[in-house]
Amino acid sequence: MKYRIASIKGDGIGPEIVTQAQKVLNRVAEKYGHEFEFKELLMGGCSIDAYGIPLTDETITEAGNSDAVLMGSIGGNTATSPWYKLEPSKRPEAGLLGIRKALNLFANLRPAYLYPELKDACPLKEAVAQKGFDMMMMRELTGGLYFGERYTKEIEGVMTAVDTLSYNEKEIRRIAIKGFDIAMKRRKKVTLVDKANVLDSSRLWRKITEEVSKDYPQVEYGVMLVDNCAMQLVKDPAQFDVVLTENMFGDILSDEASMITGSIGMLPSASLNETRFGLYEPSGGSAPDIAGKNIANPIATILSAAMMLRYSFDLDKEADAIENAVKQVLKEGYRTIDLAKEGEETVKCDEMGDLIAARI
Ligand code: IPM
Ligand code: MG
Repeated sequence: MKYRIASIKGDGIGPEIVTQAQKVLNRVAEKYGHEFEFKELLMGGCSIDAYGIPLTDETITEAGNSDAVLMGSIGGNTATSPWYKLEPSKRPEAGLLGIRKALNLFANLRPAYLYPELKDACPLKEAVAQKGFDMMMMRELTGGLYFGERYTKEIEGVMTAVDTLSYNEKEIRRIAIKGFDIAMKRRKKVTLVDKANVLDSSRLWRKITEEVSKDYPQVEYGVMLVDNCAMQLVKDPAQFDVVLTENMFGDILSDEASMITGSIGMLPSASLNETRFGLYEPSGGSAPDIAGKNIANPIATILSAAMMLRYSFDLDKEADAIENAVKQVLKEGYRTIDLAKEGEETVKCDEMGDLIAARI
Protein backbone atom coordinates (compact mmCIF):
# COMPACT_ATOMS: atom_id res chain seq x y z
CA MET A 1 0.00 0.00 0.00
CA LYS A 2 1.00 3.60 -0.52
CA TYR A 3 1.24 6.04 2.38
CA ARG A 4 1.84 9.76 2.15
CA ILE A 5 4.06 11.00 4.95
CA ALA A 6 4.63 14.68 5.63
CA SER A 7 8.24 15.07 6.67
CA ILE A 8 9.11 18.04 8.86
CA LYS A 9 12.83 17.80 9.44
CA GLY A 10 13.09 21.15 11.22
CA ASP A 11 16.21 22.59 12.82
CA GLY A 12 19.38 21.50 14.58
CA ILE A 13 19.84 17.74 14.46
CA GLY A 14 16.33 17.35 12.94
CA PRO A 15 17.42 16.85 9.31
CA GLU A 16 20.08 14.27 10.29
CA ILE A 17 17.83 12.11 12.44
CA VAL A 18 14.78 12.22 10.15
CA THR A 19 16.93 11.20 7.19
CA GLN A 20 17.89 8.05 9.12
CA ALA A 21 14.25 7.29 9.93
CA GLN A 22 13.36 7.71 6.25
CA LYS A 23 16.16 5.32 5.36
CA VAL A 24 14.72 2.71 7.73
CA LEU A 25 11.19 3.27 6.40
CA ASN A 26 12.42 2.85 2.84
CA ARG A 27 13.95 -0.46 3.85
CA VAL A 28 10.61 -1.51 5.40
CA ALA A 29 8.85 -0.51 2.15
CA GLU A 30 11.25 -2.60 0.11
CA LYS A 31 10.97 -5.63 2.36
CA TYR A 32 7.20 -5.60 2.93
CA GLY A 33 6.03 -4.20 -0.40
CA HIS A 34 4.75 -0.78 0.68
CA GLU A 35 5.38 2.66 -0.69
CA PHE A 36 6.16 5.63 1.52
CA GLU A 37 6.04 8.98 -0.23
CA PHE A 38 7.67 11.81 1.71
CA LYS A 39 6.61 15.39 1.30
CA GLU A 40 9.20 17.72 2.82
CA LEU A 41 7.70 20.67 4.72
CA LEU A 42 9.27 23.51 6.68
CA MET A 43 8.46 24.41 10.27
CA GLY A 44 10.27 26.16 13.11
CA GLY A 45 13.45 28.19 12.61
CA CYS A 46 13.96 27.09 8.99
CA SER A 47 10.45 28.32 8.21
CA ILE A 48 11.22 31.65 9.91
CA ASP A 49 14.30 31.98 7.70
CA ALA A 50 12.33 31.12 4.55
CA TYR A 51 8.96 32.79 5.21
CA GLY A 52 9.33 34.96 8.30
CA ILE A 53 6.96 32.77 10.35
CA PRO A 54 7.48 29.41 12.09
CA LEU A 55 4.38 27.71 10.65
CA THR A 56 2.72 28.49 7.34
CA ASP A 57 -0.83 27.63 6.32
CA GLU A 58 0.68 25.49 3.58
CA THR A 59 2.54 23.33 6.11
CA ILE A 60 -0.65 22.90 8.17
CA THR A 61 -2.72 21.98 5.09
CA GLU A 62 -0.14 19.64 3.58
CA ALA A 63 0.50 17.94 6.92
CA GLY A 64 -3.24 17.59 7.56
CA ASN A 65 -3.78 16.08 4.10
CA SER A 66 -1.08 13.45 4.59
CA ASP A 67 -1.55 10.05 6.23
CA ALA A 68 0.84 10.94 9.07
CA VAL A 69 3.60 13.40 9.95
CA LEU A 70 7.18 12.46 10.73
CA MET A 71 9.05 15.22 12.50
CA GLY A 72 12.59 15.89 13.69
CA SER A 73 12.96 18.83 16.01
CA ILE A 74 12.66 22.58 15.95
CA GLY A 75 14.40 25.51 17.58
CA GLY A 76 17.93 26.77 18.13
CA ASN A 77 20.11 28.00 20.93
CA THR A 78 17.73 30.16 22.97
CA ALA A 79 20.58 32.37 24.19
CA THR A 80 22.30 33.08 20.89
CA SER A 81 20.00 32.39 17.94
CA PRO A 82 18.38 35.44 16.27
CA TRP A 83 15.10 33.50 16.25
CA TYR A 84 14.83 34.25 19.98
CA LYS A 85 14.92 38.00 19.47
CA LEU A 86 11.45 37.66 17.93
CA GLU A 87 8.34 37.92 20.07
CA PRO A 88 7.29 34.54 21.59
CA SER A 89 4.43 33.98 19.13
CA LYS A 90 6.89 34.15 16.21
CA ARG A 91 9.60 31.88 17.62
CA PRO A 92 10.26 28.32 16.37
CA GLU A 93 8.39 26.66 19.28
CA ALA A 94 5.22 28.52 18.33
CA GLY A 95 5.26 26.47 15.11
CA LEU A 96 5.23 23.21 17.02
CA LEU A 97 2.49 24.35 19.40
CA GLY A 98 0.56 25.71 16.40
CA ILE A 99 0.61 22.46 14.46
CA ARG A 100 -0.35 20.43 17.56
CA LYS A 101 -3.37 22.68 18.03
CA ALA A 102 -4.29 23.01 14.34
CA LEU A 103 -4.31 19.23 13.86
CA ASN A 104 -5.97 18.62 17.24
CA LEU A 105 -3.15 16.32 18.43
CA PHE A 106 -4.28 16.17 22.03
CA ALA A 107 -2.80 12.81 23.09
CA ASN A 108 0.95 12.58 23.37
CA LEU A 109 2.40 9.11 23.96
CA ARG A 110 5.98 8.83 25.15
CA PRO A 111 7.00 5.26 25.91
CA ALA A 112 9.96 5.03 28.30
CA TYR A 113 11.51 1.59 28.25
CA LEU A 114 14.85 0.53 29.65
CA TYR A 115 16.55 -1.74 27.12
CA PRO A 116 18.37 -4.48 29.03
CA GLU A 117 21.44 -3.71 26.90
CA LEU A 118 21.43 -0.11 28.12
CA LYS A 119 21.27 -0.79 31.84
CA ASP A 120 24.80 0.55 32.11
CA ALA A 121 23.71 3.88 30.59
CA CYS A 122 20.85 4.22 33.10
CA PRO A 123 21.85 6.82 35.70
CA LEU A 124 19.88 5.11 38.48
CA LYS A 125 21.25 2.81 41.16
CA GLU A 126 22.09 -0.62 39.86
CA ALA A 127 19.41 -2.35 41.95
CA VAL A 128 16.77 -0.07 40.41
CA ALA A 129 18.10 -0.43 36.86
CA GLN A 130 18.24 -4.23 37.25
CA LYS A 131 14.46 -4.33 37.74
CA GLY A 132 13.99 -2.46 34.46
CA PHE A 133 10.88 -0.45 33.58
CA ASP A 134 8.42 -0.03 30.75
CA MET A 135 5.99 2.86 31.02
CA MET A 136 3.86 4.96 28.74
CA MET A 137 3.81 8.66 29.51
CA MET A 138 0.47 10.00 28.28
CA ARG A 139 0.67 13.75 28.14
CA GLU A 140 -2.28 16.01 27.27
CA LEU A 141 -0.94 18.21 24.49
CA THR A 142 -3.40 20.90 23.44
CA GLY A 143 -4.61 22.44 26.70
CA GLY A 144 -3.45 23.75 30.04
CA LEU A 145 -0.76 26.35 30.58
CA TYR A 146 0.57 26.03 27.03
CA PHE A 147 -2.64 27.31 25.48
CA GLY A 148 -4.31 29.36 28.23
CA GLU A 149 -4.59 33.13 28.11
CA ARG A 150 -1.26 34.82 28.80
CA TYR A 151 -0.03 38.37 29.05
CA THR A 152 2.54 40.60 30.67
CA LYS A 153 1.50 44.06 31.72
CA GLU A 154 1.82 46.65 34.42
CA ILE A 155 -0.90 46.31 37.01
CA GLU A 156 -1.06 49.14 39.55
CA GLY A 157 2.49 50.11 38.68
CA VAL A 158 3.89 46.58 39.05
CA MET A 159 4.99 44.54 36.04
CA THR A 160 2.99 41.31 36.15
CA ALA A 161 3.01 38.18 33.99
CA VAL A 162 0.03 35.86 33.83
CA ASP A 163 -0.28 32.32 32.39
CA THR A 164 -3.59 30.51 32.71
CA LEU A 165 -4.03 26.80 33.45
CA SER A 166 -7.47 25.74 32.35
CA TYR A 167 -9.05 22.42 31.35
CA ASN A 168 -12.63 21.50 30.61
CA GLU A 169 -14.18 18.10 31.25
CA LYS A 170 -14.26 17.19 27.55
CA GLU A 171 -10.53 17.75 27.15
CA ILE A 172 -9.87 15.57 30.18
CA ARG A 173 -12.31 12.80 29.29
CA ARG A 174 -11.01 12.23 25.75
CA ILE A 175 -7.40 11.76 26.87
CA ALA A 176 -8.40 9.71 29.91
CA ILE A 177 -10.27 7.33 27.58
CA LYS A 178 -7.18 7.04 25.36
CA GLY A 179 -5.07 6.38 28.46
CA PHE A 180 -7.32 3.54 29.66
CA ASP A 181 -7.59 2.09 26.13
CA ILE A 182 -3.82 1.95 25.90
CA ALA A 183 -3.53 0.47 29.41
CA MET A 184 -5.86 -2.35 28.29
CA LYS A 185 -3.24 -3.32 25.70
CA ARG A 186 -0.41 -3.12 28.24
CA ARG A 187 -0.15 -4.09 31.92
CA LYS A 188 -3.58 -2.60 32.78
CA LYS A 189 -2.55 0.08 35.20
CA VAL A 190 -3.18 3.85 35.02
CA THR A 191 -1.65 6.41 37.36
CA LEU A 192 -3.13 9.90 37.12
CA VAL A 193 -0.48 12.46 38.04
CA ASP A 194 -1.68 15.84 39.26
CA LYS A 195 -1.44 18.51 41.95
CA ALA A 196 -4.91 18.03 43.39
CA ASN A 197 -3.79 19.23 46.83
CA VAL A 198 -3.48 22.74 45.33
CA LEU A 199 -5.02 23.12 41.87
CA ASP A 200 -8.68 23.23 40.85
CA SER A 201 -7.80 21.94 37.39
CA SER A 202 -6.21 18.86 38.99
CA ARG A 203 -9.34 18.21 41.04
CA LEU A 204 -11.40 18.21 37.84
CA TRP A 205 -8.88 15.79 36.28
CA ARG A 206 -9.40 13.47 39.27
CA LYS A 207 -13.19 13.64 39.07
CA ILE A 208 -13.41 12.97 35.33
CA THR A 209 -10.67 10.34 35.24
CA GLU A 210 -12.29 8.47 38.11
CA GLU A 211 -15.57 8.45 36.16
CA VAL A 212 -13.80 7.08 33.08
CA SER A 213 -12.05 4.43 35.21
CA LYS A 214 -15.46 2.92 36.08
CA ASP A 215 -15.76 1.79 32.45
CA TYR A 216 -12.49 -0.14 32.76
CA PRO A 217 -12.92 -2.47 35.74
CA GLN A 218 -9.90 -4.58 34.71
CA VAL A 219 -7.57 -1.58 34.91
CA GLU A 220 -5.96 -0.76 38.24
CA TYR A 221 -6.40 2.99 38.68
CA GLY A 222 -4.48 5.21 41.10
CA VAL A 223 -3.54 8.85 41.61
CA MET A 224 -0.22 10.43 42.51
CA LEU A 225 0.88 13.99 43.18
CA VAL A 226 3.32 15.33 40.60
CA ASP A 227 6.12 16.11 43.06
CA ASN A 228 5.90 12.59 44.43
CA CYS A 229 5.88 11.22 40.88
CA ALA A 230 9.10 13.08 40.08
CA MET A 231 10.61 11.29 43.07
CA GLN A 232 9.11 7.86 42.35
CA LEU A 233 10.45 7.95 38.78
CA VAL A 234 13.99 7.81 40.08
CA LYS A 235 13.22 5.65 43.12
CA ASP A 236 11.04 2.91 41.65
CA PRO A 237 10.16 3.44 37.96
CA ALA A 238 9.07 -0.21 37.57
CA GLN A 239 5.82 0.61 39.41
CA PHE A 240 4.47 2.63 36.44
CA ASP A 241 2.54 1.43 33.42
CA VAL A 242 0.44 4.25 31.91
CA VAL A 243 1.16 7.66 33.48
CA LEU A 244 -1.65 10.05 32.58
CA THR A 245 -1.07 13.75 33.08
CA GLU A 246 -1.68 17.28 31.88
CA ASN A 247 0.47 19.22 29.45
CA MET A 248 3.09 20.96 31.60
CA PHE A 249 3.55 18.14 34.10
CA GLY A 250 3.90 15.77 31.14
CA ASP A 251 6.54 17.95 29.51
CA ILE A 252 8.68 17.84 32.63
CA LEU A 253 8.10 14.22 33.66
CA SER A 254 8.68 12.88 30.15
CA ASP A 255 12.16 14.39 30.06
CA GLU A 256 12.84 12.75 33.41
CA ALA A 257 11.47 9.43 32.15
CA SER A 258 13.60 9.64 29.02
CA MET A 259 16.77 10.35 30.94
CA ILE A 260 16.43 7.26 33.10
CA THR A 261 16.32 5.15 29.91
CA GLY A 262 19.94 6.16 29.43
CA SER A 263 19.59 8.97 26.93
CA ILE A 264 16.94 11.38 25.70
CA GLY A 265 17.98 10.15 22.25
CA MET A 266 16.09 6.88 22.88
CA LEU A 267 12.57 8.19 23.53
CA PRO A 268 10.08 8.30 20.64
CA SER A 269 6.69 9.95 20.73
CA ALA A 270 3.34 9.94 19.01
CA SER A 271 0.84 12.78 19.11
CA LEU A 272 -2.62 11.63 18.10
CA ASN A 273 -6.01 13.12 17.39
CA GLU A 274 -9.38 11.30 17.62
CA THR A 275 -8.73 9.42 14.36
CA ARG A 276 -5.70 7.36 13.34
CA PHE A 277 -3.82 10.46 12.26
CA GLY A 278 -0.69 11.39 14.19
CA LEU A 279 2.52 13.35 14.32
CA TYR A 280 5.58 11.33 15.28
CA GLU A 281 8.73 12.89 16.67
CA PRO A 282 11.56 12.13 19.07
CA SER A 283 10.89 13.50 22.54
CA GLY A 284 14.22 15.30 22.63
CA GLY A 285 15.01 18.69 21.22
CA SER A 286 17.07 20.07 18.33
CA ALA A 287 20.42 19.90 20.21
CA PRO A 288 21.96 22.84 18.30
CA ASP A 289 25.34 22.24 19.96
CA ILE A 290 25.82 18.96 18.10
CA ALA A 291 23.89 19.79 14.90
CA GLY A 292 25.61 19.00 11.62
CA LYS A 293 28.25 16.80 13.27
CA ASN A 294 26.61 13.49 12.38
CA ILE A 295 26.83 12.32 16.02
CA ALA A 296 23.19 12.58 17.13
CA ASN A 297 21.37 9.43 18.15
CA PRO A 298 18.68 8.71 15.50
CA ILE A 299 17.05 5.87 17.47
CA ALA A 300 14.24 7.96 19.03
CA THR A 301 13.23 9.15 15.55
CA ILE A 302 13.47 5.65 14.08
CA LEU A 303 11.32 4.33 16.94
CA SER A 304 8.88 7.20 16.29
CA ALA A 305 8.60 5.92 12.71
CA ALA A 306 7.79 2.48 14.16
CA MET A 307 5.04 4.08 16.28
CA MET A 308 3.71 5.70 13.10
CA LEU A 309 3.45 2.30 11.40
CA ARG A 310 1.69 0.86 14.44
CA TYR A 311 -0.73 3.62 15.41
CA SER A 312 -1.52 5.38 12.11
CA PHE A 313 -1.06 2.63 9.50
CA ASP A 314 -1.89 -0.50 11.51
CA LEU A 315 1.34 -2.13 10.30
CA ASP A 316 2.20 -4.01 13.50
CA LYS A 317 4.50 -6.54 11.88
CA GLU A 318 6.56 -3.82 10.22
CA ALA A 319 6.70 -1.81 13.46
CA ASP A 320 7.94 -4.91 15.28
CA ALA A 321 10.62 -5.34 12.63
CA ILE A 322 11.98 -1.84 13.30
CA GLU A 323 11.87 -2.27 17.07
CA ASN A 324 13.60 -5.63 16.84
CA ALA A 325 16.27 -4.19 14.56
CA VAL A 326 16.95 -1.49 17.17
CA LYS A 327 17.23 -4.12 19.92
CA GLN A 328 19.54 -6.14 17.71
CA VAL A 329 22.04 -3.32 17.09
CA LEU A 330 22.07 -2.50 20.78
CA LYS A 331 22.66 -6.15 21.59
CA GLU A 332 25.51 -6.23 19.11
CA GLY A 333 27.07 -3.39 21.07
CA TYR A 334 26.73 -0.46 18.66
CA ARG A 335 26.46 2.87 20.49
CA THR A 336 26.10 6.48 19.48
CA ILE A 337 28.11 8.85 21.62
CA ASP A 338 25.27 9.63 24.05
CA LEU A 339 24.96 5.93 24.93
CA ALA A 340 28.63 5.04 25.08
CA LYS A 341 30.61 4.42 28.23
CA GLU A 342 33.88 6.25 28.56
CA GLY A 343 36.43 4.96 26.09
CA GLU A 344 33.85 2.85 24.24
CA GLU A 345 33.88 2.97 20.45
CA THR A 346 30.97 4.85 18.89
CA VAL A 347 29.11 4.96 15.58
CA LYS A 348 27.92 8.05 13.76
CA CYS A 349 24.29 9.02 13.24
CA ASP A 350 24.16 7.79 9.63
CA GLU A 351 26.00 4.56 10.50
CA MET A 352 23.40 3.81 13.16
CA GLY A 353 20.70 4.34 10.52
CA ASP A 354 22.49 1.94 8.14
CA LEU A 355 22.97 -0.69 10.87
CA ILE A 356 19.28 -0.64 11.81
CA ALA A 357 18.07 -0.64 8.18
CA ALA A 358 20.33 -3.60 7.42
CA ARG A 359 18.68 -5.63 10.21
CA ILE A 360 15.17 -5.30 8.79
C1 IPM B 1 8.44 18.85 23.97
C2 IPM B 1 9.17 20.16 23.88
C3 IPM B 1 8.17 21.26 23.51
C4 IPM B 1 7.11 21.29 24.61
C5 IPM B 1 8.81 22.64 23.29
C6 IPM B 1 9.87 22.61 22.23
C7 IPM B 1 7.79 23.70 23.01
O1 IPM B 1 9.82 20.43 25.07
O2 IPM B 1 7.86 18.41 22.95
O3 IPM B 1 8.44 18.25 25.05
O4 IPM B 1 7.32 21.94 25.64
O5 IPM B 1 6.08 20.68 24.42
MG1 MG C 1 9.74 18.88 26.51
